[in-house]
Amino acid sequence: MSAKKRPATTATRTPTVTRAPFDLPEFLAANAAVVNAALGCYLPRATTKPATIHKAMRYSLFAGGKRLRPALCFAAAAACGGTAAAALPLACAVECIHTYSLIHDDLPAMDNDDYRRGKLTNHKVFGEGIAILAGDALLTQAFAIAAHAEGTPRYSPRDLIFEIAEASGSLQLIAGQVADLEGEGKKISAAQLKYIHERKTSALLCCSARLGGMSANCTPTQLAALTDFGYHVGLAFQVIDDILDVTQTSEQLGKTAGKDITAQKATYPRIVGLEKSRKIAKELTAKAFAALKPFGGRAAALEALAHHLLERDK
Ligand code: IPE
Ligand code: IPE
Ligand code: MG
Ligand code: MG
Ligand code: MG
Repeated sequence: MSAKKRPATTATRTPTVTRAPFDLPEFLAANAAVVNAALGCYLPRATTKPATIHKAMRYSLFAGGKRLRPALCFAAAAACGGTAAAALPLACAVECIHTYSLIHDDLPAMDNDDYRRGKLTNHKVFGEGIAILAGDALLTQAFAIAAHAEGTPRYSPRDLIFEIAEASGSLQLIAGQVADLEGEGKKISAAQLKYIHERKTSALLCCSARLGGMSANCTPTQLAALTDFGYHVGLAFQVIDDILDVTQTSEQLGKTAGKDITAQKATYPRIVGLEKSRKIAKELTAKAFAALKPFGGRAAALEALAHHLLERDK
């Protein structure tokens, strides 16, 4: 090729790297579709006997949740060079755990809520007995689904199952729910509130990110970074949930707004006020961003998600 015909790129010009902005809405929609399809296959059909329980499980699971935990799982897998296919059973498992926790959270014996995900709560439609059982069944189903996950050289299937059990058990998610119930109507310190949020919410979000990394055979450094990231994003998530309860309408949230005040729940707005709560959520998100350093720019999906979770309005 003569010098004249050679494209004027390589030697003469410094190539400019323009990274397209990460398309989070597309990422969320695509992942939600994959998770919904997989959950649809994993769960017994609505007509399978006893049909009532399978209808009830599917009712809450497909009521229109934001699928943020699966998204975290996929985004973490991507940051570690993994695939959505390897993360899929784990993403579905955490969504089943999350949905079960919401069905039980809404029961009259707990938060006594009538609306969830824009629809009547499970117990309002199926009665308390079936709602309790639907929660139990989704919790159990989560482990059956997680058992489909392959291990990787660094993480055995047993490690993956244990990860889910630990985050959901009586030292984490359940511990947070216990403290949340016992804190109703009481004067709670900021430290106690942090204890509640770490467990009832952050534990499962953190677990979702870790599982994504583990499905991608992440290095110990990457797993530590995902833990740090998930912990802070998880805390910010509950602070925002507390804020939205005060600032949004029930229509916007798909669940009854203002319930925390009526139930005298320990929340950030109640303890430190709205402005300080917003500041805390921002600081927690900044810490989550900082945790992504080891990924050196390969964590676009995680970054976009953290930003979205802070800015969300429902
Ligand atoms: C609500 O979680 C319960 C909390 C832990 C605050 P989400 O806001 O993720 O609920 P869905 O899944 O979109 O319904
Ligand atoms: C729910 O916290 C946490 C779990 C279900 C583990 P909240 O009680 O604040 O959640 P919402 O506001 O009912 O969604
Ligand atoms: Mg609650
Ligand atoms: Mg609640
Ligand atoms: Mg809430």
